[in-house]
Amino acid sequence: MWAGRFAKALDSKADDFNSSIRFDCKMYRQDIEGSIAHANMLAKQGIISASDCVSIVEGLGGILDDIESGALAFDMGCEDIHMFVEAELTKRIGDAGKRLHTARSRNDQVALDVRMYLRQRASDIRTLLVALVGEITDKAEENKAVIVPGYTHLQRAQPITFGHHLMAYSMMLLRDISRLDDAVKRMNYSPIGSCALAGTTYDTDRRYEAENLGFDGITLNSIDGVSDRDFCLELMSTFSIIMMHLSRLSEEIILWSSWEFKYIELDDAYTTGSSIMPQKKNSDMAELVRGKTGRVYGDLLALLTTLKGLPLAYNKDMQEDKEAVFDAVETVEMCLDIFAPMIRTMRVKADNMYRAAQEGFINATDLADYLTKKGMPFRSAYKIVGQLVAECIDKKCVLDNLPLDAYKAHSELFEDDLYNEISLETCVAKRISEGGTSVASVEMQIAYVREELKK
Ligand code: ARG
Repeated sequence: MWAGRFAKALDSKADDFNSSIRFDCKMYRQDIEGSIAHANMLAKQGIISASDCVSIVEGLGGILDDIESGALAFDMGCEDIHMFVEAELTKRIGDAGKRLHTARSRNDQVALDVRMYLRQRASDIRTLLVALVGEITDKAEENKAVIVPGYTHLQRAQPITFGHHLMAYSMMLLRDISRLDDAVKRMNYSPIGSCALAGTTYDTDRRYEAENLGFDGITLNSIDGVSDRDFCLELMSTFSIIMMHLSRLSEEIILWSSWEFKYIELDDAYTTGSSIMPQKKNSDMAELVRGKTGRVYGDLLALLTTLKGLPLAYNKDMQEDKEAVFDAVETVEMCLDIFAPMIRTMRVKADNMYRAAQEGFINATDLADYLTKKGMPFRSAYKIVGQLVAECIDKKCVLDNLPLDAYKAHSELFEDDLYNEISLETCVAKRISEGGTSVASVEMQIAYVREELKK
């Protein structure tokens, strides 16, 4: 390509080292679509002839068809996908192909292709996220009245419904959808026409080209246009947060599936056995999602580190953006894809959840509130209930079956109605504050999420 300036060819190892086609070939469609729009713009502006434009557009269309049908294989000897498409075009249509690269550079071309590619993949990921939130919300609805201990510090804390717990994840992932939309909004500005770094002397129409490629506008500084990779970082930050959410849910699924909890059972289709222990049923999918979270964080950190301290404008270091961001995209996509059916087919063991909720004094707060509502200051009530819990532990009973005279020994405010007041059903039903665990509140959350998903 640059034979004019050089006396000898690149060393073959250096050539391999320099080349990016083995991973950037994924962007062949975006590269071709971008080039078609570029040729159309050049012709509209009278920079190339109408007949050259027709040959270029037809030639590029043929290349796209042949790549998709498998008739044309990528030449791994080319430096990157941009060089490959241009060389193939020139092979097919001759001199007109050599005019395509007028008023652009690979620097703005690659910036364009990556934006277009990620825009598409972000939309695929959005679809998967919507599906997953739908599955979690359906599961929550099925379990909106199933009582389970809620935890803090992984210690049984207060009774909640399993539906309420699941809806927490729907809320997280709903925010992820909005974060993704936000990242795409800022990504959707076209850098093409920034050229190498300084713009061009040709009378181009960047806005026309951008509009034809579905962008909301153009980048307004040519140096920024070619050196900005914020959109990759924003996307990977969003992916990292998505993975963090999936990892937290994975961890709970792994715990809940254990014999110590036995709150849920994953379907056989999403678990594996052990090669030596015949009794085992392992939550490998959830463990892998948890594990792959580290990998996506790593992708983000890798690109942040690559970009740190890079002088303006384009530097070859930036070729490292693609492997990181592609890996993150593919990993998140795989994880979301496996998660939705794993949730759908998960069996909830409501009896075990209820049994666990009966132990552990998770109605102690409600007993303190009982006294407080009868006029005792909360701190005094808190202390009495603490003593009652200690008494129960001693007598190997729970608050629900401690006799009334044992209560009365601590306070005359205790009456027979306390037992109803501290039943698990009452504890849940009475948590009617907005966002609380009552069935009505969970139903409101479900309706809200379903409405948001329709948008
Ligand atoms: N393969 C390159 C990349 O991914 C394309 C841009 C190359 N530009 C250059 N001036 N060498 O970043």
